Amino acid sequence: MQASHFLDTKTLAWGHPSTHHRIRPIPTIRFRPIPPVSAVATSPAPPLTRQKMHSLPPEKVELFKSLEGWASQSVLPFLKPVEECWQPSTFLPHPSLPKEEFLDQVRALRERTDGLPDEYFVVLVGDMITEEALPTYQSMINGLDGVRDETGASSSPWARWTRAWTAEENRHGDLLKTYLYLSGRVDMLMIERTVQYLIGAGMEPGTENNPYLGFVYTSFQERATFISHGNTARLAKNGGDPMLARICGTIASDERRHELAYSKIVEKLLEVDPNGAMVAIADMMRKKITMPAHLMYDGEDPKLFEHFAAVAQRLGVYTVHDYADILEFLIVRWSLEKVEGLTGEGNSAQDFVCGLAPRIRKLEERANERARKMEPHGVKFSWIFNKELVL
Ligand SMILES: [Fe+2]
Ligand SMILES: [Fe+2]
Repeated sequence: MQASHFLDTKTLAWGHPSTHHRIRPIPTIRFRPIPPVSAVATSPAPPLTRQKMHSLPPEKVELFKSLEGWASQSVLPFLKPVEECWQPSTFLPHPSLPKEEFLDQVRALRERTDGLPDEYFVVLVGDMITEEALPTYQSMINGLDGVRDETGASSSPWARWTRAWTAEENRHGDLLKTYLYLSGRVDMLMIERTVQYLIGAGMEPGTENNPYLGFVYTSFQERATFISHGNTARLAKNGGDPMLARICGTIASDERRHELAYSKIVEKLLEVDPNGAMVAIADMMRKKITMPAHLMYDGEDPKLFEHFAAVAQRLGVYTVHDYADILEFLIVRWSLEKVEGLTGEGNSAQDFVCGLAPRIRKLEERANERARKMEPHGVKFSWIFNKELVL
């Protein structure tokens, strides 16, 4: 938060100059009291209280070590050289242009975004905030045993992947945030507070410092973001902002490339340890894949994530249907139905995963029915200046 925000101009006063001293008066600047700082995160309590940790047995840490050569050859090529990467400035009004031309580009941006509805902005802001909590995701991946970046600049291919992946991801939030800022359609202060709360709150994906679970999670999540950014691209195009459509589409294609890399790792684990990989996939799906921004909070709405997710569901940006689609896609991608030679535990994991999608779809139908019967109610979003959306 900026200090200037607390500067109450009404209390800005000059001290009384003494009549018999010729000393320059000393300005007295009073600030509004800063709210007390709490050591306890004020966002809602995390849902998982007792998480399992370090569930990867030592011999499997060795397995990841032995896969380093493979990772160098098969995972690192999914990264793009920096020189070939787009950057946020590629898509933004160019500040080095003469002032009027720059301002014309900003005006054009605002005219394009004028046609998009407020609910679209709620979803785009939620997606942007999710991207902005990137420090949390890098921490989570660096919590995984056997693949973490031990030094901060480790030369292991796992560590190199994670750093470069983070660097690629870092552009997503930057670009969306600047675009949203220039649009003037959203309350940047409330968005910035939400990002700060969210990074402070962290996330609980239930991955137990276990790279089997971690890479199943990231495979799923990258596909989820690919779908979600693809849908915000489509809506921007239909709403009259082809540039925003290009932005969301470009981010979506990064997510797709990352999904391919992570799902390739899981594919490899299924090859070298089919039982362990199958059990891990079932374990993650039993826990449900929580969204990375599930602890989001803006200081006002304790159900902010739920409300954001409801708008995303209604606009068709990310839905329960997509969740089941991703699962079905990964089952085919990893040929899970065809994996053979599993133990009893592996077999029941396989049965569970391969039979799960229809069950999720049934639950979705029931939830849709319940939603239809519910009275519509208004929810205010601080991100769009407390305007109310009917959910
Ligand atoms: Fe991203
Ligand atoms: Fe991503």
